[in-house]
Amino acid sequence: MKHAKILIADDEAAITTGLSAILEDAGYAVDVVSDGQKALEALIAERYGVVLADLKMPKLDGLTLLGELQQRKIPTECIIITGQATVDSAVQAMQQGAYDYIEKPLNAEKLNRLKALIPKALDKYQVQQTNRELASKLEGLTHYAELTGQSESMRSVYQVIEAVAPSTASVLILGESGTGKELVARALHSKSDRAKGPFFALNCAALPKEILENELFGHEKGAFTGSISEKPGAFEMSSGGTIFLDEMAEMSPDIQVKLLRAIETKQVRRLGGKKEISVDIRILAATNKNLQKAIADGELREDLYYRLAVVEIDLPPLRERADDIQLLANEFLGRFAQQNGKTLTGFDDAAWEWVMSYHWPGNVRELKNAVERAVIMSRGTTIGPTDIIPRHLRNGGGMPAALTIPMGATAAEARQQLVLRTFASTQGDAERTAKVLGLSEREVRGELLSIVTGEAVADTEAAPRADAKSQPAAAPVRPAKKKESAPPPRPPAKKPMAKKGR
Ligand SMILES: Nc1ncnc2c1ncn2[C@@H]1O[C@H](COP(=O)(O)OP(=O)(O)OP(=O)(O)O)[C@@H](O)[C@H]1O
Ligand SMILES: [Mg+2]
Repeated sequence: MKHAKILIADDEAAITTGLSAILEDAGYAVDVVSDGQKALEALIAERYGVVLADLKMPKLDGLTLLGELQQRKIPTECIIITGQATVDSAVQAMQQGAYDYIEKPLNAEKLNRLKALIPKALDKYQVQQTNRELASKLEGLTHYAELTGQSESMRSVYQVIEAVAPSTASVLILGESGTGKELVARALHSKSDRAKGPFFALNCAALPKEILENELFGHEKGAFTGSISEKPGAFEMSSGGTIFLDEMAEMSPDIQVKLLRAIETKQVRRLGGKKEISVDIRILAATNKNLQKAIADGELREDLYYRLAVVEIDLPPLRERADDIQLLANEFLGRFAQQNGKTLTGFDDAAWEWVMSYHWPGNVRELKNAVERAVIMSRGTTIGPTDIIPRHLRNGGGMPAALTIPMGATAAEARQQLVLRTFASTQGDAERTAKVLGLSEREVRGELLSIVTGEAVADTEAAPRADAKSQPAAAPVRPAKKKESAPPPRPPAKKPMAKKGR
């Protein structure tokens, strides 16, 4: 890999000429400046891995230059060149984040030390640069492999996938049904060196024990009645690739034993076979079961659990990822509208209110299905609440009967939630909402508008009337606090855990 450039900043020509010759001989690209100000300008204009800065330079001394670099978040590593009289300042520079310092005169011994220091400083710069690139690559991310999501918790999931994909560590993916466990498994495969190899998914709950065993390990000819030919199992067929064991807690005890053995020895034996066959496999597993309970109940071997859960990724339920609901809903809308040849511009306000306040027990799968159905049902150019709310929930069944208002919420926030939930439970009927709550229809609409626009409702008396558009409102409409426009409070998003080294 090509080294990052080095900048030498010193007012003594003898030093800069000598140093740059030595470093260029050693294969580095070097630039030279004669004072601190020029050094700063160069470091702003161009990326350098290391700057060798004289402590005493005209215009900006080395220490001030270091401070400027830090303030501007310029990541170049700084090595201070100092005279004997200023060693104290050089030590101070190191305390402030300089990589190291070298004392003048630059005799052969010092130059050797410097030549040893530079690659280390460049390495540090490069490692940090890679980390920064990874962080910034994932920072604004809304999509990763086939996954869609921009919530903080999904970005943490992306980060764990990015970090563990290249290894062969087994990963256990946890999460409620429909949270995207299989997509995470596919992402782990596609981001790994095994991406060109096969990805073999097996659902341990869907297959009867004998068939699952046969699928995993294969059989020899004549292994059982009717086995007229040999059949390699998933382990053999996907050697060099990845096996995904879905619903792994449903495996029978004897398959668990065989699996454990295969993982430990990296060898399998077909049913009815004597030969050990070496395999090169990465195993991913998923479950929505409470594994501690499955282990305590003796359904899952603890040793197998530890083998499979070298790293755990915990996918948070959709209701805890408010940021993702809107993104996913819009994306599914676009996709299904295109598939169905419909021109749809989006969801109307009432549909959005329901989408954002529903608790999505079936997670992304349920949202995806709901949007597909809504697209098919829709007759207009936007999706309305009756298109998207499933029939069995139309009578408020999807809404919790009780409303929880967190301590610390204002009366205005509580009122907004009450209106929102009731509105959703009446499938977006403002008139019925008003009746149920004992409010006027205008008040209900005012609340809904304020939720949608993010602006607080003006006092009831002063609320602008629909028929008084041209008149200035009697009282100025206060800009809402951000909190007031937010959807109903949700439990704090769980961060995915990555446990390593078990
Ligand atoms: N983050 C996401 N972005 C886009 N689509 C998603 C996402 N998460 C899930 N889906 C979609 O939702 C559906 C369910 O996802 P998936 O099968 O991965 O969930 P799961 O957690 O494995 O569910 P189960 O536990 O029921 O097997 C799929 O159609 C998938 O494409
Ligand atoms: Mg699944």
